[in-house]
Amino acid sequence: MKVSTLSLAAFFAVSCIATEELTLDKVEADIKTENLRNNLWHLQRIAKENGGNRAFGLPGYKASLDFVYERAVARFGKHMDTWIQPFNHTFEQTRKLEVKGPDGKPVHAITLLYNPATPLEGVTAPLLNTPVDDTLGSMCLPEQWTGVDATGKLVLIKRGVCAIADKLKLARKAGALGVVMYHNIPGTDYGSATLSAANIGQLVPVGLIPLEIGSAWAARLVAGEKLSAHLLVDSVFETRETWNLISETKEGDPNNVVMLGAHLDGVQAGPGINDDGSGSSALLEIMGSFKKYKGFKNKVRFAWWGAEESGLVGSLYYTKNLPEEEADKVRFYFNYDMIGSPFPFFRVYQGQNPGDALGAAPLYEYLSETAGKPAELAPFGTSSDYVGFLNIGVPSSGLFTGAGAPTDPCYHLKCDTLENIDWSALTANAKAAARAAAKFALSLEGVPPRNKTTVNVRGRAALLGQFQRWAKIEDEAEHNHSCAHKHQNVV
Ligand SMILES: *[C@@H]1O[C@H](CO)[C@@H](O)[C@H](O)[C@H]1NC(C)=O
Ligand SMILES: *[C@@H]1O[C@H](CO)[C@@H](O)[C@H](O)[C@H]1NC(C)=O
Ligand SMILES: *[C@@H]1O[C@H](CO)[C@@H](O)[C@H](O)[C@H]1NC(C)=O
Repeated sequence: MKVSTLSLAAFFAVSCIATEELTLDKVEADIKTENLRNNLWHLQRIAKENGGNRAFGLPGYKASLDFVYERAVARFGKHMDTWIQPFNHTFEQTRKLEVKGPDGKPVHAITLLYNPATPLEGVTAPLLNTPVDDTLGSMCLPEQWTGVDATGKLVLIKRGVCAIADKLKLARKAGALGVVMYHNIPGTDYGSATLSAANIGQLVPVGLIPLEIGSAWAARLVAGEKLSAHLLVDSVFETRETWNLISETKEGDPNNVVMLGAHLDGVQAGPGINDDGSGSSALLEIMGSFKKYKGFKNKVRFAWWGAEESGLVGSLYYTKNLPEEEADKVRFYFNYDMIGSPFPFFRVYQGQNPGDALGAAPLYEYLSETAGKPAELAPFGTSSDYVGFLNIGVPSSGLFTGAGAPTDPCYHLKCDTLENIDWSALTANAKAAARAAAKFALSLEGVPPRNKTTVNVRGRAALLGQFQRWAKIEDEAEHNHSCAHKHQNVV
């Protein structure tokens, strides 16, 4: 059906005038499981239609952004001001990886993050065995390469103990064309690692094969056989543009803003329904509720962050680029990342800032007293988008239901689908979030101003250092939480 623009506008004008006063009970009642589920169904569909994910730099992220934008602008535009904040980040992806043995047949092999590419046709070269050192790590110290001439060769190295990037750096210095690395534990169920963006340009390509296969080749080389192997890595690293989406209530004091954030991107491995479709869906429903009401004393600003999975990139970009006087207006930040884990705990963040407790209290009280959930107050970690806000001293809180086994065994995996949600947990958390946001929309009484002495992150060098420090902590945190194939470790 085609509706003329004019009648559509008239329809919205009539149906969208907010006449009712905002209350906590009304927004809580507006949050419904079926609507939270419907949003997630769309995000899963978007992933399915775009290669299985909604990751930074790939079409599924753009489609997710379009989905939220359509809600914010086409449906809620009368009540919300929406803008897109573009930023750039280094995208990395291995499109193809192949290791063939001396018999010319492909063997099981996986890639590493930031794996440099071989020539398109791959490299076929003599295989050079290297000594194993399971104490210090194999071939990760310069002295372990003394007298090794790897010129024009593929080097066979055992994994373990030290950073893989160190092995690849030294292999490059020794003239190698690439490295065939074999795992240090038997079997094929091994995880990847990151070579890190910081090492771009300093490494040789690598393929990671099973221990059984690598040690068999090593034994043959030690026995004096001459073997060759084939390595093909088709990978890209390039700057790609991505976006944060920000939408705020037209009503409310622009000098006193309550922010709610969730990341809209996911990992490349799966559709990202709990991580963080859950938080993204909750924000959409809260926005859909708020647009019905008037009486906002303070503005409410919703943020869907981009490139969180690449190191909190979007939210850090936002907080770093917020002018001092704009940062002062952000009175509270709530973070909602993974709030529907299938075997949830109910963490309510409360950090060092005395203001945090004022946002944590309504979340905690609603969850424990009304929803009957075992809520617990917990300090902030380092692995979600609150980091930028803590850095600039904004009082903050948020919710988290757990990543990795036992709370979310599908963390960062293909199985993070609609089946990976505890609907009661997600609904309770979204209702708690709606109430807490409404409370602050009505009054920020008692909430202290931003603590400007928290960290000095304003100098350019300091900013970069801070970013790299957090990025490193983020990698570690991810490693610690991760349960399966997408470890962000470096060893
Ligand atoms: C992103 O990079 C492109 C190409 O280099 C550039 O034109 C654009 O201005 C950059 N965008 C931002 C937000 O820095
Ligand atoms: C601000 O943060 C700093 C560093 O964490 C702390 O020492 C100071 O007491 C805080 N100030 C206020 C007013 O909370
Ligand atoms: C990760 O775990 C290691 C070892 O338990 C610990 O030393 C480190 O502080 C943890 N890192 C984070 C960011 O939690």
